[in-house]
Amino acid sequence: MKTLITGGLGQIGSHIAEMMLERGDQVLVIDNLATGRREHLAEHQNLKVVIGSIADNDLVKNCFDDFNPDAVVHTAASYKDPNDWYNDSLTNCVGGSNVVQAATEYKVKRFIYFQTSLCYGLKPLEQPITLNHPKFPASTSYAITKTANEDFLEISGLDFVTFRLANVVGPRNVAGPLPIFYQRLKDGKQCFVTKSRRDFVFVKDLAHIVLKACDGVGHGAYHFSSGSDVAIEELYNAVVKAMSFSEYPKPEIKELGADDVVSILLDPSKTFEDFGEFKFTPIEETVAQAIKYFEEYGTLGEYTHLKLKE
Ligand SMILES: NC(=O)c1ccc[n+]([C@@H]2O[C@H](COP(=O)([O-])OP(=O)(O)OC[C@H]3O[C@@H](n4cnc5c(N)ncnc54)[C@H](O)[C@@H]3O)[C@@H](O)[C@H]2O)c1
Repeated sequence: MKTLITGGLGQIGSHIAEMMLERGDQVLVIDNLATGRREHLAEHQNLKVVIGSIADNDLVKNCFDDFNPDAVVHTAASYKDPNDWYNDSLTNCVGGSNVVQAATEYKVKRFIYFQTSLCYGLKPLEQPITLNHPKFPASTSYAITKTANEDFLEISGLDFVTFRLANVVGPRNVAGPLPIFYQRLKDGKQCFVTKSRRDFVFVKDLAHIVLKACDGVGHGAYHFSSGSDVAIEELYNAVVKAMSFSEYPKPEIKELGADDVVSILLDPSKTFEDFGEFKFTPIEETVAQAIKYFEEYGTLGEYTHLKLKE
């Protein structure tokens, strides 16, 4: 099988690429290194890496022309500066539509997308959120542009799966609380923890399911989530444990802000029905693997998709 992976040097894309190479597939990666790293993928005879942007339509078309992929795994996304609407639009809308249209033109058999749960808005109408929940992305530039990309895919006529995700973590994770906790603790700074809960899933668990999707399982939208959440304080404690402090670095516990959501729980029932039941990796194991990665490579910064209030 030949798979073109956009953003293949990022957290999710690189784990998928590794699993595909392990089973003998051919992989072509396009990545502009915005939040990815070249060292995330080792050299391999069945791997070609193109450094460039999906916003460059000629580059995208040349890649499809040369490689003629059976499947596309589209993980490339821009999100690192909530005020950078230009680059979010360029990558997620222009780049996203370039990839969707090239896949249509080159008659790709499967297209896999990764949507943010922020598409349901900051105040979802139900918990757990079902797949019938309306999309209300108008809260952040990231959610607006990621939703436009998903909408393009929905009108494309392609055979697609879109995984709507909340918090995917593990090695190579560059956004959200995990790298922030690690970096602050490493720098001897106190962390703060809000009284919220999130459903953290291990990136390699997601990658296994994506391979199944590329092979033809499922159609349309799915939630990749365990269906149960953990307190942010539990995540913090797992980071502290993995970093082996002799004395517990006490976090500051903060009340939820006006825009904070207590929990984002995505209903995973359709995923279990179509992809089968599977065991999720426990949070402590997930965090331990992430910390091992940060110890070796460091973090890339402290990115978040949300514009934080002072
Ligand atoms: N990690 C999560 O919790 C989460 C949650 C919801 C949705 N998602 C979605 O999953 C996908 C992958 O997320 P991730 O955690 O692996 O993020 P990531 O930042 O690790 O990976 C994204 C990759 O895309 C690359 N990229 C960015 N702009 C590009 C461009 N114009 N051209 C080519 N490459 C470009 C980056 O360099 C990076 O390697 C994204 O589409 C993201 O929106 C992730």
